[in-house]
Amino acid sequence: MKQGFDGRDIISIKDLTKADIEHIINVSKEMLPIARGEKKSGLLNGKILATLFFEPSTRTRLSFESAMNRLGGNVVGFATSKATSAEKGETLADTIKMADAYSDVIVLRHPNEGAARLASGFSSKPVINAGDGAGQHPTQTLLDLFTVKTEKKRIKGNNIVLVGDLKYGRTVHSLTYALAMFNATLTFVAPETLQMPKEILSHLKEKGIEFRQSSSLENVIPDADVLYVTRIQKERFPDPEEYAKVAGTYRVDLGMLSKAKKDMIIMHPLPRVDEIAPEVDKTRHALYFKQAFNGVPVRMALLSLVLGTVK
Ligand code: CP
Repeated sequence: MKQGFDGRDIISIKDLTKADIEHIINVSKEMLPIARGEKKSGLLNGKILATLFFEPSTRTRLSFESAMNRLGGNVVGFATSKATSAEKGETLADTIKMADAYSDVIVLRHPNEGAARLASGFSSKPVINAGDGAGQHPTQTLLDLFTVKTEKKRIKGNNIVLVGDLKYGRTVHSLTYALAMFNATLTFVAPETLQMPKEILSHLKEKGIEFRQSSSLENVIPDADVLYVTRIQKERFPDPEEYAKVAGTYRVDLGMLSKAKKDMIIMHPLPRVDEIAPEVDKTRHALYFKQAFNGVPVRMALLSLVLGTVK
């Protein structure tokens, strides 16, 4: 039976079907003029979003808040747990029960994998996972898919190269599961120690999805339709010496792009550190800031769907 969105938690991209994702992309397109401030909307008048961020964020938190404000809703929340009673030892479960009492929808970012799923068990309101440790970041994946679809017209058939920290990167984990649903061709570029986890590769094999693995970025750039670059995440390494061995392994610069297809696009969930040279920003390939903007219409679509104001 087809599951509607009203009241639904968004925890993992794997909880969504291809039809669900296509519907979110279509609603997001309709939200674009409102996201740009060209059209006014009162779609979420009287609704309250709670943004609970136990880890730093710029894009996810601000774009959720912008989405809620643009649709006429209100926002409560925190950007650091240091200003909350978690500092006094309050559990996540109790914090969620309070957000449940004070709001209509909860967006949670937390360092522990599984935190959003756990939170959903303590809330009667929809919980949206805004990143749980090295686990999932489904709303990032949705805006990534929206970006590929709008820039490339379709997702299927594109050769998508994912480069960087494929072991700890939650954005690339969620994105790989989603791209598998759309039959994209996948290329994984990472140092041996940061390659895509085995369970994700097994999932691709089970689904019959074509993929290859490489440690050389130069070798794969000429065939790429989308180059999805990620930061090597210092904060996820248990051992700083292990981080030092792989930091700065890949850097996309103008020289490297000379071999790229003319219409190849570069995406990055951001923040970047040094993996894309700033001079790349001015090239036709650079899509990452537009991609980050796309977080607003996509999160508008999600909030409206789970709050039942859009079907
Ligand atoms: N892409 C992303 O999740 O960015 P933030 O960490 O700034 O939210």
